[in-house]
Amino acid sequence: MLAGLAEIADTGRDSRRGGYSRHLWQGADLELRTWFALRAERLGLNVETDRNGNLWAWWGEPGPDAVVTGSHLDSVPGGGAYDGPLGVVSALEAVARLRASGFTPSRPCAVLVCAEEEGSRFGIACLGSRLLTGGIDADRARALIDADGITLAQAARRAGLDPAHLGADRDALARIGLFIELHVEQGRGLVDLGRPVAVASSILAHGRWRLTVTGQGNHAGATPMEDRRDPLVAAARAIVAVQDAAENHPGARATVGRLEVVPGGTNVIASSVHAWLDARAPTDAETRDLVAAIEAAVGEAALVNGCSVAVTEESWTGTVTFDPELVGRFRSVLGGDALVPALPTGAGHDAGVLAASVPSAMLFVRNPTGVSHSPEEFAEVGDCVAGIDALETLLRSVL
Ligand code: GLV
Ligand code: MN
Ligand code: MN
Ligand code: MN
Repeated sequence: MLAGLAEIADTGRDSRRGGYSRHLWQGADLELRTWFALRAERLGLNVETDRNGNLWAWWGEPGPDAVVTGSHLDSVPGGGAYDGPLGVVSALEAVARLRASGFTPSRPCAVLVCAEEEGSRFGIACLGSRLLTGGIDADRARALIDADGITLAQAARRAGLDPAHLGADRDALARIGLFIELHVEQGRGLVDLGRPVAVASSILAHGRWRLTVTGQGNHAGATPMEDRRDPLVAAARAIVAVQDAAENHPGARATVGRLEVVPGGTNVIASSVHAWLDARAPTDAETRDLVAAIEAAVGEAALVNGCSVAVTEESWTGTVTFDPELVGRFRSVLGGDALVPALPTGAGHDAGVLAASVPSAMLFVRNPTGVSHSPEEFAEVGDCVAGIDALETLLRSVL
């Protein structure tokens, strides 16, 4: 494992699920934030936390038109070691190399760690970058609640932030002249092409919706089968309908990866079920069309069990097309199109959110398993080093 990743390999291990569970401002995430600050300060960088909990490590004075590189340190529940931290560790290493070589940047430079990229605690992916750019309303964000009923406002206060200051941060955003995020690839693109590193070309449109299936809570022993309105059985039919709808929409992906059964007792017919839908497709219109089809299909499926379904949107990101001029320039700086593919991805990233406000680009590092959001996610040390080499080269070309 890459040395920087080995330093944090024991932080946030999840013995129950396997892999890592590192969630915003909870034990492992707090440890990683401290680790990052110490690591950056040891490199001579000046660390600050912005009003939304994103961490910045500045090489010299913060300033306008800065080149900013980084990713995130939080994870999905039971995630891999690379999704997020690889980009942070690589950014620190690339900056360390530049400093050690005596390179003098002609513009400000910072390493950025975005907060709550996965949305594992408060449900909204890329929460830190959405807050920074004003991509989520601050009042709505403050009211988000975690699994323990703690609001984002309360959690922010406990983390030492003023919840009144959460939200669009024009000053911080105005400092970014260019953002570059390096990330482990979350599919098989580079494996199939036999290359270690790619530049990202686009991100699928994607969003999250909550399906609330309502039935009749009742006694598991005293309620005959024909008298039931069981929302969990309805949810099971609805989930199959989600899969069928996605299979009928070319290039679309739809997933229910999280369920909450209310009240959740072995001898209790549930009264309601929350199912979270993650839906993605190549264009905004196709994604909207997919979700409309899902909404109709889950309603019909639930009716079989006498239940109803309410669908509410929780987050949305339109298709991201990274600036083709920047993509072309970076591929050419890294050795040309034959060596460095441009790859689309179905995974969301802070670079995708930031791309709506500032020039942004991504590098992908080969993942031999092709698996992500799972402990099986992997990258060979040699490919991680190729990623750092590429990031260093790009930074030299723009600094
Ligand atoms: C981020 O990892 C996503 O869910 O796409
Ligand atoms: Mn992820
Ligand atoms: Mn990620
Ligand atoms: Mn359709």
